[in-house]
Amino acid sequence: MLALITTGTATHVELGPVADPVPLPNQALVRVSAFSLNRGEVLNLPHRPTGSVTGWDAAGVVEHPAADGSGPPAGTRVLGLVRAGAWAQFAAIPTSTLAPIPDAVSDVAAAALPTAGLTSLRALERGGLVLGKRVLIAGATGGVGRIALQLAHAAGAHVTAHVRDQAASEALLRGLGADDVAEQLGGDFDLIIDAVGGATFGHAIEHIAAHGLLVNLARQDDDELITFRIAQFDRSPGATIYTLNQFDETAAHASGSSDLRRLCALVADGRLDPQIELEASWHEATSAIDALLQRRIGGKAVLRVD
Ligand SMILES: NC(=O)c1ccc[n+]([C@@H]2O[C@H](COP(=O)([O-])OP(=O)(O)OC[C@H]3O[C@@H](n4cnc5c(N)ncnc54)[C@H](OP(=O)(O)O)[C@@H]3O)[C@@H](O)[C@H]2O)c1
Repeated sequence: MLALITTGTATHVELGPVADPVPLPNQALVRVSAFSLNRGEVLNLPHRPTGSVTGWDAAGVVEHPAADGSGPPAGTRVLGLVRAGAWAQFAAIPTSTLAPIPDAVSDVAAAALPTAGLTSLRALERGGLVLGKRVLIAGATGGVGRIALQLAHAAGAHVTAHVRDQAASEALLRGLGADDVAEQLGGDFDLIIDAVGGATFGHAIEHIAAHGLLVNLARQDDDELITFRIAQFDRSPGATIYTLNQFDETAAHASGSSDLRRLCALVADGRLDPQIELEASWHEATSAIDALLQRRIGGKAVLRVD
């Protein structure tokens, strides 16, 4: 089959032949039609072994159902999450993180959901019932941020979007459900979802309300040092900082498949827009990766396997 194979030179992928994946008994073999690019996996490319196939989010059709009898039958349109291998013509995907795509949802839209959608769900669920609560999304213009914002709004939270460029993003984010859009943090929040990290993470620590929660999900640079005024954290009794790893949490929850169904249903109902800003052929992977890394696009980037 063909796949985007990791190479030793920037942008670290090229289309080439590799052996077809051999599914484990709990994995379905999926003929991939579209996959999304996530910032984390793109940043990981230089650290992956040459010749390997990365990719977390796939949509396509079940070619061979899982040998253990779990999951959808052959011919079902599906979306799925896998730890590696989605950027290929075929991917072996555990049925625990595979779900059917409703007719009303395109493969391209579905491919945008697994990582960004499940991460957003996990982060919000950590905060419990957010109805009427003050929720801050830092990095609200990104792939995770735009989905987290919409889900928080749908759950009844008062949502503040923290952004770098308010003038450029305010109208869009208010349209997605933001009550406030701000470049500077002010006030306290019951739940903060930080998808930026670094200095933003330090600032966010100072704005956790009493008994509030800061979910740290951004990839942090290895040598990043942050500063914050400890008195600002101390003044909030019960304030908590929680580091979230989507893959670990999804494995622990055992609800990956039903959560993917849930996200698809929200898209089918018109209550969640995956916010795909770039859709292209996988033959254009290099320029798509560059656009994501250079932040020329916000939201999600999805490549078609054509
Ligand atoms: N822990 C997990 O399991 C998990 C899962 C998924 C993602 N993540 C991490 O979550 C983060 C967001 O992922 P994503 O897919 O949403 O990435 P993305 O689409 O590239 O979005 C990045 C966001 O960060 C903002 N940003 C980047 N640099 C910034 C800076 N210096 N100051 C302020 N804002 C800045 C961007 O704002 P602009 O639009 O202004 O550039 C954008 O809103 C990444 O670090 C990713 O690795 C973690």
